[in-house]
Amino acid sequence: MRTILWLAICCLAVTVGTAGDAAAQFAKAEDAIKYRQSVMSVVGTHFTRLGAMVRGEAPFAREAFEENAALVATLLKLPWEAFQVAGSDKGSSLRPEALGKKEDFLKLARANQDEVAKLLAAAKTGDLNAIRPAFGAAGASCKACHDSYRRK
Ligand code: HEC
Repeated sequence: MRTILWLAICCLAVTVGTAGDAAAQFAKAEDAIKYRQSVMSVVGTHFTRLGAMVRGEAPFAREAFEENAALVATLLKLPWEAFQVAGSDKGSSLRPEALGKKEDFLKLARANQDEVAKLLAAAKTGDLNAIRPAFGAAGASCKACHDSYRRK
């Protein structure tokens, strides 16, 4: 039992370790740019669907809302290391400052993931009065990073 547990922990460490090594993952800066822009584009699509329901521009459908929120939460696990690849500020909307401020960038990414987790929790209640402020806070935490590290 103990061996199995250790094996599980080791595998997890290896997986996380590999996923965390941006240089090992992306051979070229363009690959990192394409990857993160693709992820963010899909994040944007699903986040916009949430926004339409929150604002009443689309009918509120509890299940669809929860599904879209869950997708955003899952997708937000993916892109952050791709923002750390040297040279990837060129030919993209990433501001060069971001590459020298990895800790701050990742702090904003974590804050965003926390807010989206709260949004997902609110979505599970199906109560728009809980969802609305959670959506606002999540959106503000997207914007906080864009204001600092995304070119206009
Ligand atoms: C920690 C920083 C950070 C957070 C948090 C963040 N973004 Fe971004 N986002 C960026 C940067 C930087 C770019 C530009 C990427 C590039 O051009 O390579 C970007 C690009 C985008 C794009 C354009 C993708 C494309 O087609 O090129 C969309 C849409 C987007 N973000 C939506 C969102 C949404 C919605 C959230 C919140 C749920 C969010 N972002 C959270 C930093 C962030």
